Amino acid sequence: MKPGIYDLICAQLKELLVEEPWYVSALSNASALLMDALPDLNWAGFYLMKDGQLAVGPFQGKPACIHIAVGKGVCGTAADRNETILVKDVHTFPGHIACDSASNSEIVIPVHERKSTAITAVLDIDSPVPDRFTIEDRDGLERFAAILEEGVRWQ
Ligand code: SME
Repeated sequence: MKPGIYDLICAQLKELLVEEPWYVSALSNASALLMDALPDLNWAGFYLMKDGQLAVGPFQGKPACIHIAVGKGVCGTAADRNETILVKDVHTFPGHIACDSASNSEIVIPVHERKSTAITAVLDIDSPVPDRFTIEDRDGLERFAAILEEGVRWQ
């Protein structure tokens, strides 16, 4: 992967948020930015907390499962634990939800509303490549999520 790629996409995300912080526009372009800039992805996007469960939000990739219960799959587990989950091999993750059978590894990062500890959304990124995501990806994507937390208007 190109060195400094996360510096670049974080800078681009900040510019996008200045123009339009509304969550539909912001999360749509955020998913497109990730899908375009990061190699070897097959799905990049968001699940939003809605009525006590996760509902699919803006994303890039194949049509995905619409609802995920908190505690289920990688996304629901990240929401339940309120922490990033990096899965080297999704086939060994108990309860993994296979929306796209091409996925082999995955990373999910919780996103909170500004100054809140409650989960507002999770950022979910899938790859067909086993063990695709590194600690550098985790740190870069957590920075990306922190920019969303600071800049997105959720209504
Ligand atoms: N694999 C996820 C479900 C969402 S799709 O990958 C887009 C999970 O186990 O939570």
